[in-house]
Amino acid sequence: KQEESIRPQRFADYIGQKDLKDVLDIAIKAAKSRGEVLDHLLLYGPPGLGKTTMAMILASEMGVNCKITSAPALERPRDIVGLLVNLKPGDVLFIDEIHRLSRMSEEILYPAMEDYRLDITIGKGSSTKTRSLPLSKFTLVGATTRAGALSSPLRDRFGLIQKLRFYEVDELSKIVLRSAQLLQTNITEDGAAEVARRSRGTPRIANRLLKRVRDYAEVKSFKEVNEQVAAEALQLFQVDPCGLDWTDRRMLSVIIEQFNGGPVGLETIAAATGEDTQTIEEVYEPYLMQIGYLSRTTRGRVATPTAYKHLGFKPPNEQLSLL
Ligand code: ADE
Repeated sequence: KQEESIRPQRFADYIGQKDLKDVLDIAIKAAKSRGEVLDHLLLYGPPGLGKTTMAMILASEMGVNCKITSAPALERPRDIVGLLVNLKPGDVLFIDEIHRLSRMSEEILYPAMEDYRLDITIGKGSSTKTRSLPLSKFTLVGATTRAGALSSPLRDRFGLIQKLRFYEVDELSKIVLRSAQLLQTNITEDGAAEVARRSRGTPRIANRLLKRVRDYAEVKSFKEVNEQVAAEALQLFQVDPCGLDWTDRRMLSVIIEQFNGGPVGLETIAAATGEDTQTIEEVYEPYLMQIGYLSRTTRGRVATPTAYKHLGFKPPNEQLSLL
């Protein structure tokens, strides 16, 4: 419940993602003035950047309901049919992890998206008949970590395809200050900035770290969270000054210590850290690449000199020059 109250509910309260907001603001105004439903929208980008939040805000700005589901919950065709027939005019249907839709569910979605029509087949073999049922006009908002993972017929049916990017520290600071106020936590601007710097450009992480910092301050009877309290608390939770956690550091140190900085295969990194390859690709790597600690090559992952320095190793070229 508390989680829900932290989520911004209006466009005006949503911090950052300026490009996305500019595009959606136009789309909303145009749809409203024509009295039409919003075009289908595909949001892609790393987890925790606010894709679900944006779908909920879109619905509230359009004055419609938002039904939230995720592809793994739509395994059987009847699951998606059930959702589609219950939509009211203009409703937003949010499908998370949409690249994981089953083939059959995806095929039900095509005519639904294109013509707001449900095609059902009755019977089998030579006596098969198809019936079409009209649906309410609706907006599908799909979310995925990688737009490239979508089949092209599905991707082609979205009128808007938008990327969410990592947040800047000043944007995250504002988010932390806003959340702290909602959680009734006393935090200074410096304290918020310290949490922000360690949040890997991700609001979901910022809000999670804020809660850990709040616990720490409460238990230790600090009357406010300043920069030092935030730093101490986050060190306790093994979140380093760049926001890297145990898994990030383990990934990099495996590449550096066991494989001479790489290139090394994804599978090897997965085995060494105990994370699955998909989590590494979609959760850990995007941020490490963003801050320039890791690069992906055709032969595998490579740790950059900056990563060496961050972990206290001598970068490879400096080692050479010592010889
Ligand atoms: N909480 C999580 N993401 C947010 C955002 N983008 N703006 C404001 N509050 C948030």
